[in-house]
Amino acid sequence: MNWRVKPLDAILATAEKKSLHRSLGAFQLTMLGIGAIIGTGIFVLTAAAAQKAGPGMMFSFIVAGFVCAVAALCYSELASMVPVSGSAYTYTYAVMGELLAWMVGWALILEYAVAASAVCVGWSGYVMGLVKNWTGFELPYFLAAGPTWGMNGFVPTVDFTYGVINLPAIIVALAVTWLLVIGTSESAKVNAVLVAVKISALTAFIVLSFPILKGENFTPLMPTGLFGHDGLGVIGAAASIFFAYVGFDAVSTAAEETKNPQKNVPIGLIASLAICTIFYLLVAGGVIGAVGAQPLTVNGVVLSPDSAAFAEACRVATASGDAPIVCSREALAEVLRKVGFEQVGNLIGLAAMIALPSVILMMIYGQTRIFFVMARDGLLPEKLADVHPKWKTPWKMTIFTGLCVAVAGAFFPVGQLADVSNSGTLFAFFMVAIAILVLRKTDPNRHRPFKTPLVWIIAPLAILGTLGLYLNLPMVAKLVLPIWAAVGLVIYFAYSRSHSHVGRGLIEVHEDDKDIPPAPGTT
Ligand code: ALA
Repeated sequence: MNWRVKPLDAILATAEKKSLHRSLGAFQLTMLGIGAIIGTGIFVLTAAAAQKAGPGMMFSFIVAGFVCAVAALCYSELASMVPVSGSAYTYTYAVMGELLAWMVGWALILEYAVAASAVCVGWSGYVMGLVKNWTGFELPYFLAAGPTWGMNGFVPTVDFTYGVINLPAIIVALAVTWLLVIGTSESAKVNAVLVAVKISALTAFIVLSFPILKGENFTPLMPTGLFGHDGLGVIGAAASIFFAYVGFDAVSTAAEETKNPQKNVPIGLIASLAICTIFYLLVAGGVIGAVGAQPLTVNGVVLSPDSAAFAEACRVATASGDAPIVCSREALAEVLRKVGFEQVGNLIGLAAMIALPSVILMMIYGQTRIFFVMARDGLLPEKLADVHPKWKTPWKMTIFTGLCVAVAGAFFPVGQLADVSNSGTLFAFFMVAIAILVLRKTDPNRHRPFKTPLVWIIAPLAILGTLGLYLNLPMVAKLVLPIWAAVGLVIYFAYSRSHSHVGRGLIEVHEDDKDIPPAPGTT
């Protein structure tokens, strides 16, 4: 078997050709990380996490944050060694060859594009809640949410009772895509303002909810145990809430633009993860303490938050005017409205409405950058990487990505999209953790601007952590990864293998991406 490794020196020559602006310091990196991290996860998925783990979701945030931290430390070593675009895909190409790189790139589509869809759906829930509270206007149910998906054995089922198509999710996906097509990149200043908006919203939530915490709301602490069936339990909730931390790789991929990356990248990563973890814990504590977060049960059985039975139980509870917070599509705003802070609740909705599109922008941008690099390597049709003469953006690819994001956002619920996105992300980080160990053995003397500390402990923890979370995802999300991988393999052997530049003996040095806009939040 020919593993077709792309020589690391060719990749590094690419990076050297690029004019490096090492301008980011630890503070900017931390802001970049927080800007990419805080989004739908905490604003929306807190409700699903409560349904899965009850008050035990606080432990879920810690577990997910820990796995992210060890994975992030591994990611940074490769990011600083191979400081070119394409993140985990490029790193794997250099270390483990083309086939695995293709599989990682293919899995990253799940991470970025599907995550973008999830955030679009989260945005939709907040905006509709806000509009309803301010104007009384409500979209008809069939335009306000996608259908409910389930499994009957191994056969997927779809139920249109609670929604058909999510119109606001489509609108925001297309609007953000348009901004990217015409070359909008978010400046570091805009990113800083949006970070301030999100942090202020979460702080307001904590300040208002903490004085009214009720100790009894924390018992039973772990109503579904540590490991429940089909994604329930503290670890199942951790696997879902992992989504709330996705985006920290924005810090690793900015390694090439960082001053003194050995010091600043780990500070930026750990600081942004630590700050987010603290906020997440306080917010989760506020939700639980203020209004209670016990799972909704029917006949004593805890329902999966993605099931039709759960949607029905929530519909009945909403009709009787007593829906628990686990049913909410805008949990944080709803908690404050429930305890009498109606207008602050609406302002939290407004903050989500303003700030979440930048997370969508970062995700779609990340996706187009990966497609761009894969097309440039010949693994995807090179025409897709064409840069628009006026806007200087890979417009075909951006439009294609945006349409896919809009379609997924239109027809799938936020929780399932987030879980599927997590399965791709966990796979990519799993591979990266293996890659750094392989590279430490096969190429020990290469210069590593950032070295993962205690690598023989941290990398195995990352490998076990990502695997453990993946195994605790709901069945549907777990199945999507191998099916997606099988489709990817077919495409690889039918098209990419024979078109690959490395396979055809072309090892080119690119001017890298000087022809496409810089990453959002870095300039
Ligand atoms: N972490 C990002 C969010 O929660 C993807 O929206």
